Amino acid sequence: MERLQKVMAQAGVASRRKSEELIKAGRVKVNNETIKELGTKVSSQDEVEVDGVPLQREAPVYFLLYKPRGVISSAKDDRGRKVVTDYIPDIDQRLFPVGRLDYDTSGLILLTNDGEFANKLMHPKHKIDKVYIIKTRGIPTREQMKQLKQGMEIEGEFFKAEDVRITSTDGKKNTAIIQMTLHQGKNRQVRKMFDALGVPVDKLKREQYGFLNLHGLNAGDFRPLKPHEVKQLRQLAEENVK
Ligand code: URA
Repeated sequence: MERLQKVMAQAGVASRRKSEELIKAGRVKVNNETIKELGTKVSSQDEVEVDGVPLQREAPVYFLLYKPRGVISSAKDDRGRKVVTDYIPDIDQRLFPVGRLDYDTSGLILLTNDGEFANKLMHPKHKIDKVYIIKTRGIPTREQMKQLKQGMEIEGEFFKAEDVRITSTDGKKNTAIIQMTLHQGKNRQVRKMFDALGVPVDKLKREQYGFLNLHGLNAGDFRPLKPHEVKQLRQLAEENVK
């Protein structure tokens, strides 16, 4: 038996707190009866409806995918392009990605059907390390590297790296390989930060997400997360949001 608001959050209806509000507002039915008490627990046999719409309840599943370049971070694409969920075949559950990587960015992305887990990890306040490997066209100066760490305002938003270092340079080709750690996860953040310096990104890959990495995987490979990894990710997200 699980608390009604937890079951609702897992099914992606809303956060637990918002689900509680829906219950109090009389918008939730269990086995055709309106429930307004927050302590209510339900089993997998109980039928839950929100605003008359039955909840899709599935066993939660969690995957780590090494997203190749040229793939959309969503569950479907109107223009018929490849999407991240195409890489995880033979799964009945309706998966969606936790956050997104750009079409041209490769690397580590999580996929799940657990809406509550995804919302927690995507909360803007959490401080999960996301490590990117960047190939730039041009070699940033020491001053520019400092700027990435000090932070910069772009289009009215403050963007900042937690850590950034040059791992190698090629003077002949005028390129650099840079490792950068972000806590923030703003749209196209890495590309915008380097564009602002006038040192554009040529290739971008997310190599780590918290304690998870891509070891042993090639582009297009996936693996299920281990139960202890799911637990640890949940703890990380909860600790950081408090
Ligand atoms: N920053 C970017 O610019 N793109 C990504 O896909 C991820 C982070």
